[in-house]
Amino acid sequence: MRRILVTSALPYANGQIHLGHLVETIQTDIWVRFQKLRGHECHYFCADDTHGTPIMIRARNEGISPELLVQRMHVEHLNDFKGFYIEFDNYYSTNTEENRLLSEEVYLKNRTAGNIHSSTLRQAYCEKDQMFLPDRFIRGTCPACGAEDQYGDACESCSKNYAPLDLKNAKCALCGTKPVEKNSEHLFFKLTHFEAFLKTWIHSGALQPEMANKLDEWFLSGLQDWDISRDGPYFGFEIPDAPGKYFYVWLDAPVGYMASCLEWCKRHNRDFAEFWRRDDLVEVYHFIGKDILYFHTLFWPAMLKGAGLRSPTSVFTHGFLTVNGQKMSKSRGTFITARQYLETLDPEYLRYYYAAKLTARVDDLDLQLDDFMLRVNSDLVGKVVNIASRTAGFLHKSFQGRLTATYPEDGGLHQQFVTAGDEIAEWYESREFSKAMRTIMALADSANRFVETKAPWTLAKHPEQAKELHETCTIAINLFRLLMIYLQPVLPVMAEKTRKFLQLPPYSWDGRLQPLCDQTIQEFSHLMVRVDPKKVEALLNTTTPPTQPIQPPALSPDKIIDIEAFSQVELRVAKILQAEPVEGADKLLRLTLDVGELGQKNVFAGIREAYRPDEIVGRLTVLVANLQPRKMRFGISEGMILAAGPGGKELFLLSPDQGAKPGMRIR
Ligand code: MSP
Ligand code: ZN
Repeated sequence: MRRILVTSALPYANGQIHLGHLVETIQTDIWVRFQKLRGHECHYFCADDTHGTPIMIRARNEGISPELLVQRMHVEHLNDFKGFYIEFDNYYSTNTEENRLLSEEVYLKNRTAGNIHSSTLRQAYCEKDQMFLPDRFIRGTCPACGAEDQYGDACESCSKNYAPLDLKNAKCALCGTKPVEKNSEHLFFKLTHFEAFLKTWIHSGALQPEMANKLDEWFLSGLQDWDISRDGPYFGFEIPDAPGKYFYVWLDAPVGYMASCLEWCKRHNRDFAEFWRRDDLVEVYHFIGKDILYFHTLFWPAMLKGAGLRSPTSVFTHGFLTVNGQKMSKSRGTFITARQYLETLDPEYLRYYYAAKLTARVDDLDLQLDDFMLRVNSDLVGKVVNIASRTAGFLHKSFQGRLTATYPEDGGLHQQFVTAGDEIAEWYESREFSKAMRTIMALADSANRFVETKAPWTLAKHPEQAKELHETCTIAINLFRLLMIYLQPVLPVMAEKTRKFLQLPPYSWDGRLQPLCDQTIQEFSHLMVRVDPKKVEALLNTTTPPTQPIQPPALSPDKIIDIEAFSQVELRVAKILQAEPVEGADKLLRLTLDVGELGQKNVFAGIREAYRPDEIVGRLTVLVANLQPRKMRFGISEGMILAAGPGGKELFLLSPDQGAKPGMRIR
């Protein structure tokens, strides 16, 4: 028996659980349930990631303590996960004594080993709020391209990285005042000490090859020491030997995996040391999304190593969820929370759909809602449930619900299904769930072919064929049972209903070898209904209640203009005659506009990520017609068209209502 410890990344306490998080927790949960089904000892630990500035600010805005906010979110998150049948052995929190002690241990051991040094940083500080401002809490104009209202770390319009204080007109996102520069002493983790260790670990088979390659690129550009401290006020753990300084949230977050395990060990009287202080008894696996690879494959193993703790056996990285081919976005109505889904649809549909799409690779996963409906209906309802629903009835009508006394001759079908189990197990083990599902559905197809060939509904009309009817139904029920054992990690509730229906003992992978006979089964009752298209549609239309956004700065008085100033802006209706990509500028489209009496204008617009050229040709939009022409690398831009949204893919061109004509003045 293997001993296995598994984690999913800790969701931020700050936001709601959405279908993207569920790609990860469903993937992990399926894998854990599979290991348990195989008879291994497997524990699944997770927690809320509670610390950091955003949660502190949100609590302040809601007028409650961060502790209370974190408690509320914990209840909410746990309910969401339960709704999807995610079966954690422990779902804990990083804001706990266990986590404080373990974080201190990791830090102090690293300090003793000489892996921590301090150095002074010059940083943006808001004198009004009396705090240093993280990059995300500074807004201003991009020094490179002039785009307004950009964050302190990088421009969303031209993708340039910069230091927060390089922003023009930098403002505190909380109060709108201009930050000043101030020195502060910071603690750094010397990642460079671990270069050799990390290189070996990364290529020890611990990572998917594509991720190991990606890390090699990072090594080429050189490892950087890591700033692990933050100044107060900060919601987190104060650093033992540095009063007023706190651990950066990403230091204590992964330690939360251990804290969750430790708290569980206490309750179950188990030895924590066996899990984390030695590496020969337990396998440790982290499931994560590709955005947090760096933290889990460089900082985390290095910190553990420096503290004399074990290394993870593997880190399994998955890609990102898109909905109908697009990044989940609130403004497009494709941001679907766990709660919204649960109020509308059966969680097992989503578990199956994700399973049918998940691979061991890091590709993104698209929730295509039409495909979702089709897949669930045709595979689960049309193929799997169908086998039982077409045969169980006859057993009750004619044989008092009893299977045949011995297992009938079935031409090797049962054995074929049993053998396929080995292949399916390999797919599960290697996280090739889509291949596991495909193999299972191919078996379901052959079970259905068997039922159709035998046609029990015809046999039932001829009393002299009762024996064959009895055998046919017994075989079909047995094949169905094998499919449900194979699907149990994905569909735990349907499997449980099946277990009651067939009066089975608890499932185990090896329990499949013996066919089921000489016993009664219960009457068939529905196991799963078809997906209702109306509900799927409703899901897309429900609007997400916004998670309390960080308060945007109020319009500052120097931004107010009078009517005179506004009337100087010449806004005109323009018709897009031509649109084409610009070579060498992947954010720009070159537009030829018809502006009526003002003639044609050439405009470069940064809308290429949001629109295909052919989508917008012929469309009316709004042009700032008297803007000083701007010479660009590709030509002269003679105006600016108006669009709403933050930029990138989330941009929405303004259009006048029907009836407007090119050249019309807008006022
Ligand atoms: N709190 C950190 C993780 C700390 S682990 C020590 C964090 N939280 S998160 O809430 O933003 O994300 C939690 C997990 O969900 C991450 O693995 C992340 O990659 C994953 N996902 C979040 N959005 C996702 C999608 N849209 N699609 C797939 N997974 C996504 O990161
Ligand atoms: Zn401020």
